[in-house]
Amino acid sequence: MSFHSMWAELLPIGRAAASGGYRRFAWTGADADCRAWFAQQARDRGLTHEVDRNGNQWAWLGDPAAGDAVVTGSHLDSVPDGGAFDGPLGVVSAFAALDELRRRGARFAKPLGIVNFGDEEGARFGLACVGSRLTAGALTAEQAHRLTDAEGITLPRAMEAAGHDPGALGPDPERLARIGAFVELHVEQGRALDLSGDPVGIASAIWPHGRWRFDFRGEANHAGTTRITDRRDPMLPYAETVLAARREAALAGAVATFGKVAVEPNGVNAVPSLVRGWLDSRAEGQDTLDTVVAGIERAARAHAAAHGATLDVTRESFTPVVEFDHALRDELARILGTTAGLKVPVLGTGAGHDAGILSGRVPTAMLFVRNPTGVSHSPAESATEDDCTAGVLALADVLEGLACP
Ligand code: GLV
Ligand code: MN
Ligand code: MN
Repeated sequence: MSFHSMWAELLPIGRAAASGGYRRFAWTGADADCRAWFAQQARDRGLTHEVDRNGNQWAWLGDPAAGDAVVTGSHLDSVPDGGAFDGPLGVVSAFAALDELRRRGARFAKPLGIVNFGDEEGARFGLACVGSRLTAGALTAEQAHRLTDAEGITLPRAMEAAGHDPGALGPDPERLARIGAFVELHVEQGRALDLSGDPVGIASAIWPHGRWRFDFRGEANHAGTTRITDRRDPMLPYAETVLAARREAALAGAVATFGKVAVEPNGVNAVPSLVRGWLDSRAEGQDTLDTVVAGIERAARAHAAAHGATLDVTRESFTPVVEFDHALRDELARILGTTAGLKVPVLGTGAGHDAGILSGRVPTAMLFVRNPTGVSHSPAESATEDDCTAGVLALADVLEGLACP
């Protein structure tokens, strides 16, 4: 099946009619449809399909028990109203690259795996890369069991409802030990390749990043009868904190975003009792990130006190800086430089990926495909057909170089 046909099959799954964006959240019906699609692609190619203890899907050519496997793939879930490319481009390109290698008559000396990591975006349970974190031992089963969605459904209950047994969640060192190299292809989530005029790039590093929950508590009261001076309105320090986050990040050359907020009681004619905002912040270096988040928290505390509100800050997740394996990165550059004659820029990124989680355990690399607008986590995310083809061919070259020496 061609790249185009695979892409067309995935396009309608989990698409929200109003926004045109995707709502493929972990362990929902849309996620199940994506998983069924993946299993079918594996079967169509005669690959062995398996779902691991943490709900990640694998398709194997050859026996992974032989070890030193070359693995590629990405994720199929999305952020709320996400684009079509973030994740699926890596999975579809993986199957298309295998098809290309078979067309070339490649002879594989190593097992080749294609993976769909579960719950990469963390859109439903708040923590990103749950599938790869569990596998790498970066998230314990106990922590995973406590993850809860906005409806109060826990991760194990959601897994069970989707037909996956949550009883065996946990680290999977044997599986990781069989992998000699993992290469994730991903749409670029910025404009570096557009600016440099290159269709494909190689990742150097992922910025350290994390998510913090800010709970501002005040006093619910009547919006019409409570005098301004009598209010303890937590919306005010929250609003000032959003502005402070922008200021602190801009000053430091970092990024800070409040993209999710929950208000209680959430009534148009009531002063809120609680405003809960989630901060996502990232920077090139750990010290800068620490300084930015500390500055935002300091401002939030001062504003909360000034408005008679209280503040609790909880760090919900954190991923330290990831420096991808230098030897593998250089090998990719060599392969692409010699076989395809490509000039491949090496880029850092502020976006998180399963490849970042795995990189502590397995030699890991990433390929980026040009995104002409740089827009991502939005329905406007895009890549041209020509660049998608360039990505598939680059991935095929890399897999051939690594698995068919
Ligand atoms: C995942 O895409 C992230 O960077 O949040
Ligand atoms: Mn994403
Ligand atoms: Mn992604």
